[in-house]
Amino acid sequence: MAKRIAILTGGGDCAGLNAVIRAVTKKAILEFGYEVYGFEDGYEGLIKNSYRRLEFNDVSGILTLGGTILGTSNKANPFKYAFKKGDQVIHEDRSQDVLHNYEDLDIDCLVCIGGDGTLTIAKKLADLGMNVVGVPKTIDNDIRGTDVTFGFDSAVEIVTEGIDRIHSTAQSHHRVMIVEVMGRTAGWIALHAGVAGGGDILLIPEIPYDLNRVVERVLLRSKKGKRFSIIVVAEGAKPKDGDVTIQRIVKDSAEPVRLGGISFVLGQQIEEATHLETRSVVMGHLQRGGDPTAIDRVLATRLGTRVVDMIENKEFGQMVGVRCQGLVNVPLDEVAKGARLVSIDDPLIKSARSIGVSFGD
Ligand code: F6P
Repeated sequence: MAKRIAILTGGGDCAGLNAVIRAVTKKAILEFGYEVYGFEDGYEGLIKNSYRRLEFNDVSGILTLGGTILGTSNKANPFKYAFKKGDQVIHEDRSQDVLHNYEDLDIDCLVCIGGDGTLTIAKKLADLGMNVVGVPKTIDNDIRGTDVTFGFDSAVEIVTEGIDRIHSTAQSHHRVMIVEVMGRTAGWIALHAGVAGGGDILLIPEIPYDLNRVVERVLLRSKKGKRFSIIVVAEGAKPKDGDVTIQRIVKDSAEPVRLGGISFVLGQQIEEATHLETRSVVMGHLQRGGDPTAIDRVLATRLGTRVVDMIENKEFGQMVGVRCQGLVNVPLDEVAKGARLVSIDDPLIKSARSIGVSFGD
């Protein structure tokens, strides 16, 4: 009997998910003759037993497609499944339903493509006895055990284009422009897109900023005849003596806090302190949409095909990671140890500082 595998995509989407689904499915069918299934909307589909067969033709032509053909959810946690009863949010353990559905479909391995939330759940499912392998994804680039995640390069590309466009209007109007980017508690997107887009001040969560230093830098530029400034701020950036800016609480989400809004707070403070006209732009979900870059397509294809080898070799309870350009197996429990943050000694921070970029410290 042919081996059966199932794929799911969980958590916030990013460019390159379909490229992974395609790579896994094509290799599994072509090289090993597996039957491939896809659970819909991440763990929601596994809990509710909502799945469909993926044939070769179903994944043909999706390499460049943004989003995920399987759908996703960043709420459905089988161990703490939230549902609303009136105004209240109740949680229940649905892991036994998941185990039942997994056994019922008689799958040999479940491929979980997701970020830290999805992969931490995958580890718990492995502990229940399920054969699971993981593929790390996120625009935030903050997963432990891998040097890079697919989706990151595409997000950096989008933000860089955004900063380029902001540059010209900032120049014309002689304004301070603040570009807010995603990344949760990590500053990877702000750092890389900020450098690529030639930002003057980069504010990242790993280096709490001093508002006075930021104001000084803007005024200094102005004094030197630079009549505009570009500030790139990560949504998780915070002042030295303060806290992050929270945009909303999503009660039925496994991680309820959504960051956002720091650029507006900062914009007002800078305008008041400098008397220079200031505007804020939030890149938001644009960073997760659209087609993957060539780099992400290649990475997604490498990760997706490697994971099929892991299944063939029965290397379960692990994810595929990137180390020094090569691919490695990483135990899934590595992910649960916390986010992979930017080191304050990161060579890119040093390079940026050496050309006069301020980190507000
Ligand atoms: O983890 C990916 C991410 O886009 C973060 O950068 C951001 O903080 C969060 O997801 C936004 O979540 P949502 O899509 O629920 O607004």
